[in-house]
Amino acid sequence: MIEPHGGTLVDLLAAPERVEELKEKAREYPSWDLTSRQICDLELLLNGAFSPLTGFMGRRDFESVAASMRLADGTLWPIPISLDVTEETAAQLDGEPLVLRDPEGVPLAVLHVDDVWEIDREAKAKAVYGTLDEAHPGVAHLMHRTNNLGVGGRLEGLQLPAHYDFPTLRLTPAELRERFARRGWRRVVAFQTRNPMHRAHFELTLRAARELEANLLIHPAVGVTKPGDVDHYTRVRCYQALLPHYPQHTVELSLLPLAMRMGGPREALWHGIIRKNYGCSHFIIGRDHAGPGNGSDGKPFYGPYEAQELFREHQDELGMEMVPFRLMVYLEDQDAYAPVDEVAEGTRTLNISGTELRERLATGRDIPEWFTFPEVASELRRTHPPRHRQGFTVFFTGLSGAGKSTVANVLLVKLLEMGGRPVTLLDGDIVRKNLSSELGFSKEHRDLNIRRIGFVASEITKNGGIALCAPIAPYDRTRREVRADVEPGGGFVLVHVATSLEVCEQRDRKGLYAKARAGIIKEFTGISDPYEEPTDADLVLDSGTLSPEEAAQAVLLHLEREGYIGPNGGGGAE
Ligand code: PPS
Repeated sequence: MIEPHGGTLVDLLAAPERVEELKEKAREYPSWDLTSRQICDLELLLNGAFSPLTGFMGRRDFESVAASMRLADGTLWPIPISLDVTEETAAQLDGEPLVLRDPEGVPLAVLHVDDVWEIDREAKAKAVYGTLDEAHPGVAHLMHRTNNLGVGGRLEGLQLPAHYDFPTLRLTPAELRERFARRGWRRVVAFQTRNPMHRAHFELTLRAARELEANLLIHPAVGVTKPGDVDHYTRVRCYQALLPHYPQHTVELSLLPLAMRMGGPREALWHGIIRKNYGCSHFIIGRDHAGPGNGSDGKPFYGPYEAQELFREHQDELGMEMVPFRLMVYLEDQDAYAPVDEVAEGTRTLNISGTELRERLATGRDIPEWFTFPEVASELRRTHPPRHRQGFTVFFTGLSGAGKSTVANVLLVKLLEMGGRPVTLLDGDIVRKNLSSELGFSKEHRDLNIRRIGFVASEITKNGGIALCAPIAPYDRTRREVRADVEPGGGFVLVHVATSLEVCEQRDRKGLYAKARAGIIKEFTGISDPYEEPTDADLVLDSGTLSPEEAAQAVLLHLEREGYIGPNGGGGAE
């Protein structure tokens, strides 16, 4: 079987007696709560997937990797593996080891810190990703969600991070190697993915295995992938549904807790090294491997086959062979798949893009069998129902007395009349009584109030219900945060009830404007406190000119147009 990278498979888990000893001592050591990405890196360090690394990198290795894709000792390694901590944590380090804990506080490892240094994040972004453009998810994460102090050193593992999902599919490099050996698999071709696998991927992997006379390892990344990806629970069910289509005893599915960087060519090389450690002799690289999408100039960050070129340069040194693939397309007349470069000119080919697939799922349109196996399509439909069966939030914003609550109440009744989905009204007054009773009207308190409403709305939406929110929500940024929270789980419609201040003040139904003018109520929106008009409203209503019924009807028509209200009314049961 292929040798691990660097010659030896690293195992950083300490022996049981040493674990007890370390746990005892760990009580006095400073500690660090790992982020979800850091836990992924730690797991792959501890289990040897990152062999020959024996800990988080110190400055020398870090800078050498960034500059030349090599560790300080010359070993090929394209991605820096560093542990960033806050200044507060770094200040506690006084020659003692650092205990690394999971979010529940369980100690997972002890880091024998031998280097603390300031990470030049811009330099790292430029060197590793080749750009400072924050449209690159790796750059955005580095610049905004990491600390600038790195701590490096040797690791001693106490235990691997706990996973309660798909435990039988989470094999370590040693376990997978042992399984390959038991089955007599010497040639194994690995397939990396962060997406559901469709017919094109199936045909591609089958072809690779056949041509090489090798067995296949489907090795999806299930740690942290690109924002917006299909969740890994759904993906794993899709992979499981695909397995019976392969010839028996030729394929293995195992999950890789990898935090992807979307680093294109460098990342492809890194993926290959990791698979080598898992015992794979071959690695498939297709079009735009680990691609981060387009930059803010609309152009891709890396060329579509740049990853293949970089891998080709290093495969001899790695002792691992790349299996390069061009884009697979469907040949309608032959009912077969082929790489695009093998297709004769003039042949009719079909393809469905990721965007089109999402649209077909959202609208409930057909997903043809040539594109994906029906079992995979039905798994996707379970977690991506059409919009008229998804939850959504209607978020009204506007001045006090603008008519938000009145319109929201009419809409509530109309939606209840339609039936199908549960509806919750989070009116400003109701929320302030039940959820935010201790809050006042400072910017800080208003933001907290809106974030709480956003949190509840996002939970309701994610679980298929309808949330109607009607606070003033005067700040643009906070409203956008709520949208970003809700949208991944369903629909979000921002409705600006744009009744003018003059009309609101003239109506003054609660007598609050008069009190605000008299200075009795402080920080009153529109009078002595700001209201930032939304520029991203999906709908603008003026209750000065529309009756509450007309305004609610306008919202319903919008929801219908967007597909959230189905043919039989409210949606839900069909
Ligand atoms: S915010 O800014 O979104 O947190 O406000 P919200 O939770 O919607 O609360 C607004 C209701 O509280 C009453 N009220 C005030 N509004 C604005 N500014 C000040 N200082 C204030 N003090 C009390 C007011 O009745 C608002 O109700 P609506 O239904 O909007 O008229």
